[in-house]
Amino acid sequence: MSSLLVDNIGELVTNAGAGDGPLGIRRNAAVLVEDGLVAWVGPNRYPPPADRRIDAEGAAVLPGFVDSHAHLVFAGDRAAEFAARMAGEPYTGGGIRTTVGATRAATDDELRATVRRLHGEALRQGTTTVEIKSGYGLTVPDETRSLRLAAEVSEETTFLGAHLVPAEYADRPDDYVGLVCGPMLAAAAPHARWIDVFCERGAFDADHTRAILTCGQAAGLGARLHANQLGQGPGVQLGVELGAASVDHCTHLTDADVDALAGAGGATVATLLPGAEFSTRSPYPDARRLLDAGVTVALATDCNPGSSYTSSMPFCIALAVREMRMSPTEAVWAATAGGAAALRRTDVGQLTPGARADLMILDAPSHLHLAYRPGVPLIRQVLHNGVPQCR
Ligand code: NIG
Ligand code: FE
Repeated sequence: MSSLLVDNIGELVTNAGAGDGPLGIRRNAAVLVEDGLVAWVGPNRYPPPADRRIDAEGAAVLPGFVDSHAHLVFAGDRAAEFAARMAGEPYTGGGIRTTVGATRAATDDELRATVRRLHGEALRQGTTTVEIKSGYGLTVPDETRSLRLAAEVSEETTFLGAHLVPAEYADRPDDYVGLVCGPMLAAAAPHARWIDVFCERGAFDADHTRAILTCGQAAGLGARLHANQLGQGPGVQLGVELGAASVDHCTHLTDADVDALAGAGGATVATLLPGAEFSTRSPYPDARRLLDAGVTVALATDCNPGSSYTSSMPFCIALAVREMRMSPTEAVWAATAGGAAALRRTDVGQLTPGARADLMILDAPSHLHLAYRPGVPLIRQVLHNGVPQCR
C-alpha cells in the first residue's frame, strides 16, 4: 500500500461538516492519501508518516471539480455559428444537426481524439469527474459508439439519443421516439449510467420526454434532462416528478418550477450552465432565486461545440459569481459538491476519509481567487485517484 501526504495546506476545502462554513474549511491542514482514497485529514502539525510528500506551500486545496454536464463526443466545430451569434443571430439549437452530420462522418479514432483532448483539457483545469453525453449520433450505431468512446474516459456516461429529432425523421417524430425507446436504448444502455432528453420547444415535448425517461429508467438508467433553456416549459416539473437526479439549464423558470425544485429537497438538483448563456449571449439563470428558495444548485460547463465550447469550471465559477449573484463560496460548492449531488455521488466532491483522492492544489491562498482572478491558470497540480496528473 503506497501513501502520499499533501501537507502545508493553507486552506483546505473539505465540503464536510467538521470544518468551517458551507465548504467545511480547515486551515493549516494536511491530507493523507492511501490507495487512491483519502485516508486521513487533519492538522498540519501532526501529519502521519507517508511514503511520499507534496508540499502545498500554504496554498488552497480543493476537491476536484465535478462537471456533471458535458457533450464531449463530436466532430468539427461551429465557430462561424458563434461569430454570427455575436453579431446578433439567435441560438435555436438547430446547429445540433450540423454537428450530427460531422459526427456521423467521423472515424472512431477522430472522435476518440476529441474526447481525450477535451478530457485532458478539463483535467488540467481541475476537473476530476466529468459526465459525458452522447447525442450527436442519433442512429443506433452512432449513439452506441459515442457512449463506448465516452466510457473509455469516464464512468459517468449519458444516453442522449433524444437530443434532437434527426432530419430523416423530421416528419415522423413519434417514430424517432420509438427508435430511441426501443433498439437505440437497448444498444446504448449497457454503456450508459444515465438517460437525458432535450425537453424544449423544437426538440422534445412533455409526452415524448416522459416516454423516453420512463423507458430509460425501466432499463436501469437514471434520469436527467435539459430543461427550460430557451423558454419556459414542462421540463423542470417533469424532472422533479420523475425523480431525475438533475434538471439542467433552468434559465426560464416560473414560480411553480422553483417551488417544485425546492420541494424536491435536493433529490433533484438544478444544474446551471452559464457557459451556454455566455456563448449564446442570453440572459443568465437566476441562481439567487434558486438558492434563496433552498434549491440545491450545481454548476457545470455544458462543454459542446454549439452553445458552450468551454471545458473550464473556473470560468463557469467566475461567470456564476459575476453574472448570477452567487457568492464565490456558493459557486465553489456548486462546482464540487453540487456536481457530485447532481450525479448522486458521495465519493467525489468532498475531501473526507474514504472519499476518492481527487483534489487540486491552487496557485492561490484561497478558493475565493477562482472567481477573483478570472482567466488566470490557478490550478497548480491535480491528483486523480491519488495520482498526480501531468501539468
Ligand atoms: O446543452 N441544448 C441542447 N444541447 C446543448 C447544445 C448542443 C449544441 O448546440 O450542439 C446544450 O446547450
Ligand atoms: Fe447540454
